[in-house]
Amino acid sequence: MSHHRVAVIPGDGIGVEVIAEGIKVLRGLEQTAPNLTFEFTDFPWGCGYYLQHGEMMPPDALEILAQFGSIYLGGVGWPEKVPEEVAVRGVVLAIRFGFDQYANVRPVKPLQGAPFPLAGKDPSQIDFVVVREGTEGLYVGQGGRYARQQAGFEQWASLRPAFLQSDELAVQIGLYSEHGCRRVMQYSFELARRRAGKRLVTSCTKVNALNYGMKLWSDVFEEVAEEYPDIDHEWMHADALAMRFVTSPEHFDVVVAPNLFGDLITDLSATLLGGLGMAAGGNIHPGGIGMFEPPHGTAPDIAGRGIANPVAALLTAGMMLDELGEAQAAHLLNDAVADVVREGAVRTPDIGGASTTQEVGDAVANCILASRPQTSDFRPET
Ligand code: IPM
Ligand code: MG
Repeated sequence: MSHHRVAVIPGDGIGVEVIAEGIKVLRGLEQTAPNLTFEFTDFPWGCGYYLQHGEMMPPDALEILAQFGSIYLGGVGWPEKVPEEVAVRGVVLAIRFGFDQYANVRPVKPLQGAPFPLAGKDPSQIDFVVVREGTEGLYVGQGGRYARQQAGFEQWASLRPAFLQSDELAVQIGLYSEHGCRRVMQYSFELARRRAGKRLVTSCTKVNALNYGMKLWSDVFEEVAEEYPDIDHEWMHADALAMRFVTSPEHFDVVVAPNLFGDLITDLSATLLGGLGMAAGGNIHPGGIGMFEPPHGTAPDIAGRGIANPVAALLTAGMMLDELGEAQAAHLLNDAVADVVREGAVRTPDIGGASTTQEVGDAVANCILASRPQTSDFRPET
């Protein structure tokens, strides 16, 4: 009997809509997999909460979340009402950093039948994973803004002529640590081993221009690569790598990237899947509490219309199941999503259909229920 306690943070905008479908589908799995049960606890944190309480989450949010096996999050942000940096730092980054979720895993394996943007390429040849570092780099939120009269201004302003002509300058610090680089790289090599595919880890760097942070990153990468003689390794500058995602996406197996580059290249790689509505993601600290969150955000432009694509959130739930040790249930879920996308009758407008978010969730849940085994363990729906 495996019972999982999951903290659910639907968040804002389409986050709420797609997470509802995720829960629906997970409940469907409960009916199907004989010994699998979930306990979902909803937390209303996000921008709505901020407008009422003046903070994105209560001060003891992390202690509360620490009591769960996993976190399932929709998306946080409502730019019209709450400054974006407040919203994002207050929940998403607070949780990634709070639980030290250093491996932000974003698979790129196009589903059959999904829109595919590259002419002359075969989507079935593409199967890679981006492992984005999630706790360091330019996301650490360090630095400052300096007005001309302020202490500190002069020190920076003397660096460039334009600075001296400015009334204000801003410093955004990127912080990289040897251990922080090493652990996410080791995670990536281990993943390449487990995947047993092309057995290749590509490091996304930019050591030609970023002479401290990316130098450490690249030096550690060479060291870690030596620990895995059975796995090939290579590096690319982030700009060249972005190009290669378009010109030869079939080349890649596991790509390990620093935080900001990882953010950029995973929106790009999502286009290979049919868009952000199809791209899953999980923030993982091996052995710790993970947060599973589709990278698409809250899409305020389509929020409330019932047309958001829930596929990203459903595949994200699949990643959560895998991380919870429920590989079989994850398979069932992923297969059901793949079936619905391949059949094509039920899909949202972003991938060329006319169905609603709920209809896609229903179709996937029904597909799962249809595969229900007729065993003595079978528990009727309640
Ligand atoms: C993502 C998002 C976030 C990020 C934002 C919302 C802070 O773009 O998960 O990719 O930059 O990490
Ligand atoms: Mg992003």
